[in-house]
Amino acid sequence: MISKIISEDNTIKTGDAIKTSKEAGEIIQKLDKTSTMYTYASADKDKVKVKFRLSDDKINKIKEICQLFNNEAGELINVLHQTQQAFGYLPAEVQEVIAHSLNISTARVYGVVTFYSYFTMIPKGRFPISICTGTACYVRGAEKVLEEFKRQLGISVGETSTDGKFSISCLRCVGACGLAPVILVGEKVYGRVSPDGVKAIIEAYKDR
Ligand code: FES
Repeated sequence: MISKIISEDNTIKTGDAIKTSKEAGEIIQKLDKTSTMYTYASADKDKVKVKFRLSDDKINKIKEICQLFNNEAGELINVLHQTQQAFGYLPAEVQEVIAHSLNISTARVYGVVTFYSYFTMIPKGRFPISICTGTACYVRGAEKVLEEFKRQLGISVGETSTDGKFSISCLRCVGACGLAPVILVGEKVYGRVSPDGVKAIIEAYKDR
């Protein structure tokens, strides 16, 4: 195992093909959620440890957002909100730049990102599935609907399917309690969803 840094993007995931200046291969593992290190299988199947660096454009964008909030540590949540809006998610590489700009530890940034379910460290699927677990939906069986989505897609809350199509998250009341239990696929709202209806919802997006 050797270590090296390859600059470029942070949008990689397991199975992605990547190319370094010398070789091409595929990502086989992100070492852990808090790390910016990945294990990469090079063309000759050697396992190589690589570290991704964000592109300068992305680093500048994050710094711009921090600057909007005067680089104040107390504005961390607002900075995270705006950064997630810009990038879609908050991987470790992005958190490092925020920590540096606000002059706080990466552990503190990570602590906030993982505390609030709104924040995510992984890219959402093309068809993000959000299950309302507010009181009305919960009482009418949202938990069972959630379990069925997890079972059918083979992923947990906060994860994305390997084909990048679906991700699962939970939401608090979306204001459609009369239709409980409610789920959203992207912006589309589905009401009175039962575990038996989960398969048909997934099928509707499978070939898109
Ligand atoms: S509790 Fe689910 S829509 Fe209100």
